[in-house]
Amino acid sequence: METPANNNNNSNSVLQRSVAMRIIKQGAEARVFESTFMGKKVVVKERFSKKYRHPVLDSKLTLKRLYGEARTLAKARKLGVATPALYAIDFVTNTLTFEFVEGTSIKDILLQSAPLPSPDGKLEEIASKIGRTIARLHDGGLIHGDLTTSNMLLDDKTGQLVLIDFGLGSTSTLPEDKAVDLYVLERALLSMHSSIGPLMSLVLAAYNKSSKYWSSTLNKLAAVRMRGRKRVMVG
Ligand SMILES: Nc1ncnc2c1ncn2[C@@H]1O[C@H](COP(=O)(O)OP(=O)(O)O)[C@@H](O)[C@H]1O
Ligand SMILES: [Mg+2]
Repeated sequence: METPANNNNNSNSVLQRSVAMRIIKQGAEARVFESTFMGKKVVVKERFSKKYRHPVLDSKLTLKRLYGEARTLAKARKLGVATPALYAIDFVTNTLTFEFVEGTSIKDILLQSAPLPSPDGKLEEIASKIGRTIARLHDGGLIHGDLTTSNMLLDDKTGQLVLIDFGLGSTSTLPEDKAVDLYVLERALLSMHSSIGPLMSLVLAAYNKSSKYWSSTLNKLAAVRMRGRKRVMVG
């Protein structure tokens, strides 16, 4: 079982001793800090060990995840998807150091918004950006793996939708994998932002317009939804 007591919360980690860092998020698998690196404001993401896992297996898994996140992020960036720049990867402290994106998470934007339709078209524009971004990622053979509204930021300066948190990312061109990726977002929107209204249909409309393979993905999405419903009914 994962309990907070199992996490490596001790204050003598290499990171915490070296520089003053403000913690942004303490998760089950990683801690995220705000810091500076070569004069720049950065985000440092530290994967920590799990005491209940076998030490050899644990360090192998940690390395795999660290490297996997860096690799998927780099691939997404290459496809033209906006992501934070990756400044450093350190296999001793198990950290990734990213450019700090000055902006607001889509989660916070949606939590503060009135329901659709929005008077200035802002929500519709956001939905369209989300759909186009996911289409670009998927057409390039990448799956994000955790498409929630807290893993999308709207950049204050450029207005771009920036995707973060590629820790569960993978490569795949299978319609099934793309559909599951979209389904995760659909569930997240339903559970967290239902008062906004049918944002997902706007996201999908933009996805359909942008993706070359939208038809096979959308067919699979219908099947994935059915499966999800059955699972809820069976319990
Ligand atoms: N590059 C970044 N710029 C600004 N904020 C960030 C950045 N990366 C992460 N964050 C903030 O930290 C939070 C946690 O980071 P994330 O990579 O999503 O870790 P986790 O895997 O724990 O969810 C994000 O939801 C976001 O608010
Ligand atoms: Mg996250």
